[in-house]
Amino acid sequence: MATSGKVIRCRAAVAWAVGQPLSLEEVEVAPPKAGEVRIKIVATGICHTDYHVLEGSFPNVDFPVIPGHEGAGIVESVGEGVTSVKPGDKVIPLVLPHCGECSFCLNPESNFCLKSHVSESQNLLPDKTSRFTCKGKQIHHFLWVSTFAEYTVVPEYVVAKIDAAAPLDKVCLFGCGFSTGYGAAINTAKVKPGSTCAVFGLGGVGLSVVIGCKAAGASRIIAIDINKDKFAKAKELGATECISPRDFKRPIQEVLTEMTGHGVDYSFEAIGLADTMTAALASCNMNTGVCVMIGELPSDSVISIDPMLLLTGRTWKGTLVGGWRMRDSIPKLVSSYLDKKFNSDLLITHTLPIAKVNEGFELLRAGKSIRSVLLF
Ligand code: APR
Ligand code: ZN
Ligand code: ZN
Repeated sequence: MATSGKVIRCRAAVAWAVGQPLSLEEVEVAPPKAGEVRIKIVATGICHTDYHVLEGSFPNVDFPVIPGHEGAGIVESVGEGVTSVKPGDKVIPLVLPHCGECSFCLNPESNFCLKSHVSESQNLLPDKTSRFTCKGKQIHHFLWVSTFAEYTVVPEYVVAKIDAAAPLDKVCLFGCGFSTGYGAAINTAKVKPGSTCAVFGLGGVGLSVVIGCKAAGASRIIAIDINKDKFAKAKELGATECISPRDFKRPIQEVLTEMTGHGVDYSFEAIGLADTMTAALASCNMNTGVCVMIGELPSDSVISIDPMLLLTGRTWKGTLVGGWRMRDSIPKLVSSYLDKKFNSDLLITHTLPIAKVNEGFELLRAGKSIRSVLLF
């Protein structure tokens, strides 16, 4: 490629400081170093987590930063020693690394690679430097992926090569939201055929849980949201009942217990609020119920619960990107999508040019979009 080994000037949405809208800038993107890959991002979804970044409630973020972590693109060039991808390959940058060599990667039950930025700083690449500059200033990376940049540089172990036939403006959701919700049902809860599920929050993540519960053969899927505009899509995707906590005087966990006799088999929290997390826990069967926490709370939050909720046998679990071992699993999920095993396209309500990134955030904040996909 003509650009290989050179600095690329391109567009990126930069967050200069907490609480400010993103600003579309021309940035310089350095070539990939050894073991790194430079990707031309074609499409990127706007996820609720990017919101937490702009608000300053996501851990280990330094400003200025290029957010975005739900992207798909094409490899532009690779650094020395990179063997798993080559220029021209379609790829999805991963929010969770997967080195394949550490003790966690060697455990088939784990998807938390020890090379993860969750335990290190994610503001800079693993060698503690940035590949981005703008107006003479160093710009920080986000989750090592920064997909709100037209070109981004990532370590090789955070890239998954996908089928060349995949539509990038659709499968970008597999980088976070869809995989998280779908995997929470399939991998983390391991929903069984014939079971009853409750899904709290019907954004991109919660609706992906609904898709997962349906794919797993759940016979009853109760969808919960305070915004009833979300109900039509939830039903289209497989919810059998939709309820708003605001329509009841008593707590929603009591309503769900009454609706199901003894509570649901599986409950999922895809909102990110302490109250709905405890409500989701109390909604599942006191003995065999499984509750999966998916929503993110601000980094210093504390939840207090009645210990009896767990003592009686309930299981309370979290999930990291739906439990997928991402470099192996994301390409397989893309293949399942191409085989039409599920229709994640229904989650995409808006497609906007990158210049309208702030409009995309406003649509999400106002509850008018499920996923907006930004195109470069
Ligand atoms: N009770 C029920 N539903 C609620 C409540 C509440 N108290 N508060 C908000 N909601 C609903 C909103 O109306 C919205 O439909 O929760 C949904 C959240 O959806 P999005 O904002 O689109 O968020 P999403 O991208 O799906 O992410 C959900 O998962 O990964 C995490 O960081 C992410 O915490 C976030 C969560
Ligand atoms: Zn690893
Ligand atoms: Zn996300």
